[in-house]
Amino acid sequence: MPILRNIGTLATCRADGAQGDIHSIHDAALVWEEGRIVWMGPEAELPALDDARESWDAGGRLVIPGLIDCHTHLAFGGWRAGEFEQRLLGESYQDIARAGGGIAATVEATRAVSEEALSERCVDFLHAMLRLGVTTVECKSGYGLNTENELKILRAYRRVSAMQPVRLVATLLGAHVVPKEWKADRRRYVDLVIEEMIPAVAAENLAEFCDVFVEDTAFTVDEARRILGAGSAVGLKPKLHADQLAPGGGAELAAEVRAVSADHLEHASEAGLTEMARAGTVAVALPLATLYLRQSPMAARRFVDAHVPVAVATDFNPGSAPSYDMHLALLLACTFLGLTPSEALKGATVHAARAVGRERDIGSVEPGKAADFAVIDAPDVTHWMYHFRPDTCRMTVVDGTVQWEAPGLSPAGTGRC
Ligand code: NIG
Ligand code: FE
Repeated sequence: MPILRNIGTLATCRADGAQGDIHSIHDAALVWEEGRIVWMGPEAELPALDDARESWDAGGRLVIPGLIDCHTHLAFGGWRAGEFEQRLLGESYQDIARAGGGIAATVEATRAVSEEALSERCVDFLHAMLRLGVTTVECKSGYGLNTENELKILRAYRRVSAMQPVRLVATLLGAHVVPKEWKADRRRYVDLVIEEMIPAVAAENLAEFCDVFVEDTAFTVDEARRILGAGSAVGLKPKLHADQLAPGGGAELAAEVRAVSADHLEHASEAGLTEMARAGTVAVALPLATLYLRQSPMAARRFVDAHVPVAVATDFNPGSAPSYDMHLALLLACTFLGLTPSEALKGATVHAARAVGRERDIGSVEPGKAADFAVIDAPDVTHWMYHFRPDTCRMTVVDGTVQWEAPGLSPAGTGRC
């Protein structure tokens, strides 16, 4: 039964309480068995264990639940650094999209890549994320935009799940934008998503969620309602890219369809926020996208005050958020959105677990949950966000197995530490 001792602060991130209640335990220890947490508490109260095989020393560091990046577009071909520069010189994200760049450019690049090559690229990204303490990643399709290529991306995610330890939660985003070959007949593209793509994904059980980008340059509220309804009918739970670039009734629709989450929300209305609170929809803040698009941030404090759980994720994609750095997303959630470090961390753990429908299994350090956690080289959560520096994650454990370990944190007694 492995034990982690000498934990300076254990941020358990239990769900109860307010956004900032992360239920920390000081001078703690953590015990797990067969991939599940069996005990955590003050080390002074550690029960006698007959079968204490491996023991790690956290060196007085911070231990957090494995981070959950609950919104990424992980599989894509190419990059779009040129657009980054265009935007810095004054062009807007929407203008670039209208001129055939943006998501459409990545669709072209992604269609040209094989399932195998996409998978290998995802594995590289995920290994880097693991070193940041990330143990679960939600990953969307959305750069295929025909049935063959959307299936290719989702099959790549299935393949990648078996190639590396980070757990993946797949989402169909066939309604990301209308692809260029259907621009003149968007209704038929919506029909294709409903009649062909969603059934094909459900038949192979390739996704748990169905997402739609509601925006001027993407889909209307009515189109999204039809698509999410068709997804729900075959068991794909609804999610939404809502009110990112302009106000568009996305938050209201998310509440209406009982979406698990509504993401972005920089332009969400007060009414939408109130309805999300009533519906229990998680608000996913994506501060890296806000930063890269140089927008005003979503009103995180208003959501928190309205008792909407706020999750924090990267939105990793080649356009609006070309970074998978959850630590940076958390720092921006503090400096940019005004969350406290504890509120931000709860957003990347137990609230993020809820945003991917896994709150019973992951997202907090509690007996019975998966032993997913990270050892962070900081004395506490506030210090970790405040003194931002690279390589703070010293060890990442997924399902009870050490999957990443920086030198200096080996099992006590092996002579390696
Ligand atoms: O979440 N908003 C839509 N989709 C992505 C951007 C994708 C891209 O630019 O390639 C987002 O920001
Ligand atoms: Fe996104």
